[in-house]
Amino acid sequence: MTYIPAPERYEQASFRRCGRSGIVLPPISLGLWQNFGGADVFETGRATIRRAFDRGVTHFDLANNYGPPYGSAEENFGTILKKDFAHLRNELIISSKAGWDMWPGPYGLGGSRKYLIASCDESLKRMGLDYVDIFYHHRPTPDTPLEETMGALVQLHRQGKALYVGISSYGPEGTRKAAEILRSEGVPLLIHQPSYSMLNRWIEHGLLDTLEELGVGCIAFSPLAQGLLTNKYLNGVPKDSRVSADNSSFSKDFLNEENLNRVRSLNELAKKRGQTLAQMAIAWALRDPRVTTALIGARNVAQLDDSLDALKNLSFSPEELKDIDSHAIEGGIDLWRSVSKE
Ligand SMILES: NC(=O)c1ccc[n+]([C@@H]2O[C@H](COP(=O)([O-])OP(=O)(O)OC[C@H]3O[C@@H](n4cnc5c(N)ncnc54)[C@H](OP(=O)(O)O)[C@@H]3O)[C@@H](O)[C@H]2O)c1
Repeated sequence: MTYIPAPERYEQASFRRCGRSGIVLPPISLGLWQNFGGADVFETGRATIRRAFDRGVTHFDLANNYGPPYGSAEENFGTILKKDFAHLRNELIISSKAGWDMWPGPYGLGGSRKYLIASCDESLKRMGLDYVDIFYHHRPTPDTPLEETMGALVQLHRQGKALYVGISSYGPEGTRKAAEILRSEGVPLLIHQPSYSMLNRWIEHGLLDTLEELGVGCIAFSPLAQGLLTNKYLNGVPKDSRVSADNSSFSKDFLNEENLNRVRSLNELAKKRGQTLAQMAIAWALRDPRVTTALIGARNVAQLDDSLDALKNLSFSPEELKDIDSHAIEGGIDLWRSVSKE
């Protein structure tokens, strides 16, 4: 069926400036890491993306190896773009990344120029695009000179294959150095993509200050801690859940009594605010104006709708914030593959 986007999609939509750049992003962005791959139901993903756009989500985040299998989320997204969004490209911010493993051998992961340039070309082909809006180095790779990795981003930028560049999961020092190298080449660092949630607050220890000083935006990924910060695990493990998937990125170990007690208590607070826990978790990530956008995942339209309703109440009282502070996990919670925070 032909997709006609909601004519009122920008009426209620608000946007937040990305650092000191000229670009604004929606407060909530949608990531295609999981649920949009070749192993998932294509029409569910398509409906979710259409719904997101209808509700003012203009930013979709991908990476070379999102799937499974690797590459299939970009392929599916390319098909959806062609079917539904061909005439809407200029209303979309589309990002991709390279850094984690993508193809066999030493040139299919890391931070080398060879890997990043080849991977970006392949991502463009899979999505049927001439350019991505943002291309990221996906994680710090200390075995590669930062000059080489940033040089590859500069090259993609100069070729017009990436309108803006970003980095993900770099610590404050690495971020500062990356920004300096890019600046010396006349390419601004637009954005940093770190993990951030009520349970995982590592970016408050230096990174957010660094980003503010450098004028770099922040897109906070996994604000729902992969689903832990929702009501879905309060009464056992549902069949349709990330935890129960094969080779899951979300280990059952995180569903221990201590964590579940934190979640139960946060859920009570969310109820008092008249929100679902997912909504409170997203609103909380956005309480700091230095966080440009919260990068969520969604299994289906119902989850997406619930999460987008977070925007109906973004304010917190000092007492609520104090209560939430008391639930943070010391040192954070590494719910995804561990990365160096140099
Ligand atoms: N740069 C990086 O290294 C990196 C790493 C990880 C992620 N990311 C980016 O961040 C994006 C989001 O990551 P994420 O998927 O981990 O984010 P998340 O928003 O923390 O978790 C999404 C999961 O939470 C559950 N969920 C979502 N909305 C819900 C709701 N309203 N009620 C109940 N459950 C709900 C679903 O779990 P179920 O599937 O169990 O239903 C969903 O798959 C990724 O797609 C990717 O773009 C980047």
